[in-house]
Amino acid sequence: MRKPIIVANWKMFKTRDEALFFILKVSDEVPLIKDVDSVICAQAPLMRCLIKRQGDNLRIGAQNMHFADEGAFTGEVSGPMLKSYNVDYVIIGHSERRAMFYETDDIVNKKILAAIRNDIIPVVCIGEQLKERENGLTNTILHNQIVKGFAGIEGKDMIKIIIAYEPIWAIGTGKTATADIADETCGYIRKMVGDIFGNLVADAVRIQYGGSVNPNNVDELLSKPNIDGVLIGGASLNPDHFIYMTNAAMKRVK
Ligand code: 13P
Repeated sequence: MRKPIIVANWKMFKTRDEALFFILKVSDEVPLIKDVDSVICAQAPLMRCLIKRQGDNLRIGAQNMHFADEGAFTGEVSGPMLKSYNVDYVIIGHSERRAMFYETDDIVNKKILAAIRNDIIPVVCIGEQLKERENGLTNTILHNQIVKGFAGIEGKDMIKIIIAYEPIWAIGTGKTATADIADETCGYIRKMVGDIFGNLVADAVRIQYGGSVNPNNVDELLSKPNIDGVLIGGASLNPDHFIYMTNAAMKRVK
């Protein structure tokens, strides 16, 4: 049984005081970490405030990192910097970064390798645009993102990686992929991982769905066999909603 993983992507929201209010409210309300991984991915200036108060069951992640461990890269954050704050996760290749900050599959690949090198778990986002889905290209797009993004990664590291399937047309639009579409596509991703890394890795790797997840649809999404968790944007900013959605994952725990 794969352990469910619920990740909040706060994007560029929340000041220090707002983050403090949130973490004080939720840190004792998420499920036990032995059952569910509950993670908040916040911006770098909030890290210290959140890590100090994460408690026993919550974990903190970043939303991006540079692929170099250090260097003259003004404005960037490195893996060793995140690790020095005990950051456990990092989102890599989010569609907003691919679209607005020109992140290619090659850059995504270098960042995944850097995260692994620094012992930080990458949450790697892949997904297609609406036109691509309408033109029947979803699987080709995902295949390319997987082959290029995970190039050179060993099976022993692949099983630690979280893959987040986020169809771009479902992000921030209120249009969730139906649970069946999300499950079918996550199943395809698992099969592709199996073709490249073997069935043992495919059975172990955790695959999330992301895109307009909220308390009203999370139970159905998490009831699907290929969806091991969710990556939540807007709805994760509300502490009560985050508590509900992390606890919804307990229904997957056998
Ligand atoms: P929304 O949940 O706001 O659609 O955002 C999804 C997302 O981009 C999470 O990474």
